Amino acid sequence: MTPPAGTATNRSRRLIVGNWKMNLTHADTVGYLQKLARGLPARYYHNVEVVVLPPFTAIRSAQTMVLSDGFMMTYGAQDVSQHESGAYTGEVSGAMLAELRCRYVVVGHSERRQHHHEDDTVVNAKVRAALAHGIPPILCVGEGLEVRDADSHIGHCTAQLTAALEKVIPEEAATVVVAYEPVWAIGTGRVAGPSEAQEVCAALRTTLGELYGQTVAGAVRVLYGGSVKSDNIGEIVAERDIDGALIGGASIDPDEFAKLCAIAAGGSLR
Ligand code: 13P
Repeated sequence: MTPPAGTATNRSRRLIVGNWKMNLTHADTVGYLQKLARGLPARYYHNVEVVVLPPFTAIRSAQTMVLSDGFMMTYGAQDVSQHESGAYTGEVSGAMLAELRCRYVVVGHSERRQHHHEDDTVVNAKVRAALAHGIPPILCVGEGLEVRDADSHIGHCTAQLTAALEKVIPEEAATVVVAYEPVWAIGTGRVAGPSEAQEVCAALRTTLGELYGQTVAGAVRVLYGGSVKSDNIGEIVAERDIDGALIGGASIDPDEFAKLCAIAAGGSLR
């Protein structure tokens, strides 16, 4: 059901991605995926693509379980090195993630931009490193509170998008997933209203159209992230330019995540 990495997918199937951040061990991952598989019946996957992003230490466990037990969710990574290989202590390369068959990799998360000082140049290098190994990046953009208060959020986010895609060719750009994550909404419980999120996601799609034309702009999945839960996912994915969500805190509990995925698929779980 999941297309091979590097292939543009159908926007009619929503994309729900659980970014576990620095939570859940290798051992926790086994129990989590079993619970998620039990909690989200196969029929939901016709309408929703479900992805989990464990820490690096648990990706191999996820791979083994998905392959051996035939689970329908896929998995990816939370970051990738901009470098191919060599003396970069602590880094993990695109080739290593490709060997583990990571379906996606997050690039440019605001926590990396903030705590690891990753600027647009580094984010662009990471986007290209992921694409070089056929792994679609989930490219995060988003504004802080001062930028939002100054009403500069659209320009800020579209500039981040443009910088991150420098020297990316249209065929590759069509496989990129863009995630709008306003920094003020991450882990704060303060979710952007659906129309606020739609406004920025539509502007990001317009920018993709300017850079690559309408075919690419129409193919790229644009997600919203920031305090998404089962209570608000329905209204978020109902917006025209929002194709799914990137979820932090609410993805840590497999029951809540299964519920959220079911709602995104247009159904519900008891
Ligand atoms: P929360 O869902 O915890 O706000 O985190 C969002 C996020 O940063 C996902 O990448």
